[in-house]
Amino acid sequence: MELRTWAERILSADTLKEKLLEPGKLTDHEPGSPLFWEEPTRPKGMEFQKHRRKDKLPNKSELADPDKRAICLHRFAGHELLAVEIMAYALLAFPEAPKHFRKGVAGTLREEQEHVRLYIEQLKRLGMQFGDEPLYRHFWSYTPYLKTPEQYLSVMSLSFEMANLDYAPTFGGAFEQCGDLDASRLMQRILEDEIAHVSFGWNWLKKFKSDEMSQWEAWLSNLPDRFPPSRAMGYPFLEENRKKAGVSNDWLIDFKEAVGLKE
Ligand SMILES: [Fe+2]
Ligand SMILES: [Fe+2]
Repeated sequence: MELRTWAERILSADTLKEKLLEPGKLTDHEPGSPLFWEEPTRPKGMEFQKHRRKDKLPNKSELADPDKRAICLHRFAGHELLAVEIMAYALLAFPEAPKHFRKGVAGTLREEQEHVRLYIEQLKRLGMQFGDEPLYRHFWSYTPYLKTPEQYLSVMSLSFEMANLDYAPTFGGAFEQCGDLDASRLMQRILEDEIAHVSFGWNWLKKFKSDEMSQWEAWLSNLPDRFPPSRAMGYPFLEENRKKAGVSNDWLIDFKEAVGLKE
């Protein structure tokens, strides 16, 4: 299947099965002209909903309750589905990007589809179905600021996916403490994949940026206005996972200064 066809099918899919479509062998002979997809179609009952104050993620202290764990896992599954859609967006938006970059985005997209499947399995175990809880626009609301591959990498790989280098292990630890080893193993798997996704973003931003710019300047200059650098982290901030992704010490020093983290 052509990358473009696959991406279009994902973004216009009205079933979860089609969102998670396994494309078989992918080709990229006709990437077409740039297309900035406005809004993904969603399966019935999985449309974007307005985020309300009461939709807060359960507190870590509440996670002994399996229903609360299911709410967390549902939220994370929602993020994975958004990642699938944003990567499909990128395949359509950047047809002129190097083939090797596009292939990498497609590979990451496949892993995000797998993450959705893995979360769905855990939800089932806990008696919940994907779509039972509200789903939000969240990452998708930033697509107007993703007009170049550099912006895509800075926002998606090096902010949202980077933040998961903190969230995934923190929730993994909390699930483990409640004795939910299946959920904690899944978070460990997600963490390992996210490290690779951040690494992909890091390496390609480095290739795309101009030589006069540092990687820090390139990252910062490609973020939307009023997008605080702290979006690229969770609590606690786990520096070692960024190092595993190849993030440089220089970048980390600038980042910690920007978000007010003390050495
Ligand atoms: Fe993911
Ligand atoms: Fe990812």
